[in-house]
Amino acid sequence: MQIFVIDHPLVAHKVTALRDERTDSPTFRRLTEELVTLLAYEATREVRTETVHVTTPVARADGVKLASPKPLVVPILRAGLGMLEGMVRLLPTAEVGFLGMLRDEETLLASTYAERLPQDLSGRQCYLLDPMLATGGTLSDAIRFLVDRGADHITAICLLVAPEGCARLERELEGLHIPVTVVTAAMDEKLNEKGYIVPGLGDAGDRLYGVV
Ligand code: URA
Repeated sequence: MQIFVIDHPLVAHKVTALRDERTDSPTFRRLTEELVTLLAYEATREVRTETVHVTTPVARADGVKLASPKPLVVPILRAGLGMLEGMVRLLPTAEVGFLGMLRDEETLLASTYAERLPQDLSGRQCYLLDPMLATGGTLSDAIRFLVDRGADHITAICLLVAPEGCARLERELEGLHIPVTVVTAAMDEKLNEKGYIVPGLGDAGDRLYGVV
């Protein structure tokens, strides 16, 4: 597993505004989209392409287009939904699947409550969207879910990650013979006793959509 922490002043600027408890939901949603677009630029560095030729007004030129099957973008509900628009802005031809995962606040264990994904993901590059890699339980389950359906290349885009979650993901994915990459805006300090990332930004779902 590879983890890329994107070091860029615009990324740091937007993360700081997201962390600020005074940032309201509409602003939080807009910043999340903008930040994901920046992260997506790095996250798609390995996206598969095929060679094409075009004719410019001047001459023939060699180029590339996205290969088939198209990449699959998978937001993990609910908070991952807030990242979708920022991702498809950069990859408008990608297909989108949905995975609903819930974390038990007591046990911190994740369970799947909804899914809308192709049965066969053979040969698919998948981009998982999950804002907070906290304990790593949700992301690890989501990755296994996609791999069991045949995905052979997985990139997770997370706004923030915690060292504990990264370590757990590393352990749980040991022996998985497909490349997994995590792209994030920041590696934070730690998790608190409630499983929140510190300093973090609070509950990403609540900050995006309110407490429901
Ligand atoms: N999920 C969140 O939304 N925030 C955290 O800090 C951890 C998990």
